[in-house]
Amino acid sequence: MQSYKIALLAGDGIGPEVMKQAVKVLKAVEARNPDVNFELNPALFGAVAYFETGKSFPQETKDICDQADAILKGTIGLNHEDSQKIPVDEQPERGALLPLRRRYNTYANFRPVYLPKELSHFSPLKAEIIGDGIDIMIIRELVGGLYFGHKETGVDEQGRRFVREVLEYDEDQIRNILKVGFETAQKRKKVLHNIHKSNVLKSSVLWNTIVDELAPSYPDVEVKHILVDAAATLLCLNPGQFDVMVMENMFGDILSDQGGGILGSLGLMPSACVGPEKSYYEPSHGSAPDIAGKNIANPYSMIGSVALMLEMSFGMESESKHLWNAMKSVFAQGYGTPDLAKGDDAKLIDTDKFGDLVVAELNKAPRP
Ligand code: NAD
Ligand code: IPM
Ligand code: MN
Repeated sequence: MQSYKIALLAGDGIGPEVMKQAVKVLKAVEARNPDVNFELNPALFGAVAYFETGKSFPQETKDICDQADAILKGTIGLNHEDSQKIPVDEQPERGALLPLRRRYNTYANFRPVYLPKELSHFSPLKAEIIGDGIDIMIIRELVGGLYFGHKETGVDEQGRRFVREVLEYDEDQIRNILKVGFETAQKRKKVLHNIHKSNVLKSSVLWNTIVDELAPSYPDVEVKHILVDAAATLLCLNPGQFDVMVMENMFGDILSDQGGGILGSLGLMPSACVGPEKSYYEPSHGSAPDIAGKNIANPYSMIGSVALMLEMSFGMESESKHLWNAMKSVFAQGYGTPDLAKGDDAKLIDTDKFGDLVVAELNKAPRP
């Protein structure tokens, strides 16, 4: 019997609604795999934790995460007004999410931007631009750069308020994420798009120097350099040219949400945040306060994050594939949550129903 401890951090907004579907799926996977046992350990995280305990990442949650084999996170964060009710440093982004990333050094964030041709009607892009579908792996550095650099606020000699936030990387951090980029490219189409801004940022100059130093060790990978601003345009005009894209933290935050845009919804953006010892899995999107509590969020990003966890943390490749196929098959039958199901022939379903249909499809797949 293989037993895995999973910390469940449902979080805020739509987090609990999509996490409920993830739990459904995990129970179904467990039932299909008699040799596998999941110990699911829910813990408070985010604004909900702050209001209950005074901390958005309480010690008890840290302990549960420390003991877990993998962490599954929903979403955190409040709308702009409600956020102001929490002191800046305890707001869930600064008080919980970034400390989670730092605690486990989850430096490699995989954000697949994937839409098979049959589902290309979800995308706002024209069919001729999508061609055979969209299949890009954005690899975002997740524990460095502006997010974690030195920060200072104060008043200058003229009495003006100022702020300083530093984009910091050391060469080891850059090398580690670039290696992930090269290795991922080797496993896919052997093309690596290096996204940078070396015409302005010194951090990108060092980044590109390390790309050049590493490239000879990966002679089978072709490196293509693209400035981040141009990459934003090309993602819309010709996404098919990209396969693996590697970039620093902030560029990856922005371009991966654009990835959700070209797919048609942030509800189609799962992710894996991989560290040397522990990884955690989360949708790329936020807590969607505008639709929270209505049971209409698209749980694909959350269930896709479960599929990534099965594959990357538990080595359950075939079950992970079955899960992707189950979700694809639900969409292929015309079902969709309101972010996607548009037009006369769309079969509109809610969050719970999507989870139920995925489980039903999964159970049609061969058992191990
Ligand atoms: P958001 O991603 O929450 O929402 C942007 C838009 O996308 C909204 O219209 C929302 O309804 C829609 N959307 C997002 N996920 C969806 C889903 N699964 N199904 C259907 N529609 C979906 O971004 P935001 O509104 O800028 O941020 C809201 C809060 O989330 C903020 O507090 C922010 O800091 C936080 N946030 C958290 C994370 C995280 O937990 N990792 C990520 C991003 C933002
Ligand atoms: C994401 C989010 C976070 C980020 C926020 C909530 C801190 O936007 O995971 O993409 O900027 O990394
Ligand atoms: Mn983001």
